[in-house]
Amino acid sequence: MDDFYREIILEHYKHPDHRGQIPGASISHEEDNPLCGDRIRVDMLVKDGVVEDVKFSGQGCAISLASADMLLEEIKGKTLDEVRHLDKQAILDLIGIPLTPARLKCALLSLKVVKVGAYGIAEWQEDEDAE
Ligand code: FES
Repeated sequence: MDDFYREIILEHYKHPDHRGQIPGASISHEEDNPLCGDRIRVDMLVKDGVVEDVKFSGQGCAISLASADMLLEEIKGKTLDEVRHLDKQAILDLIGIPLTPARLKCALLSLKVVKVGAYGIAEWQEDEDAE
């Protein structure tokens, strides 16, 4: 089963559907992973409170970029309020394999970017240290 998830992760890493930028995005936000310095930026186009389009850019490892791609697939079409309420478990469900604490930071980087962007605040604490 792990192999199945590993292949999905690799596929999202090699062929992301949501990589890019959105000129004139409603929300643009970026954060880094303090452990490695990798940064991910997310652009969201929001209309009537719904995420109509969303793209990510930046650099990171396979886990961080694959989880960004999977997360963005997940939030497209959701309301900003639904995005605000996504939690760590949502990412773990997408990833599907056990992660070490360091890898968990990688996997959660895009969630941090998306949630801070959706809240429009400059800090993110929820769940971050609940490992
Ligand atoms: Fe930098 Fe994973 S090693 S985000």
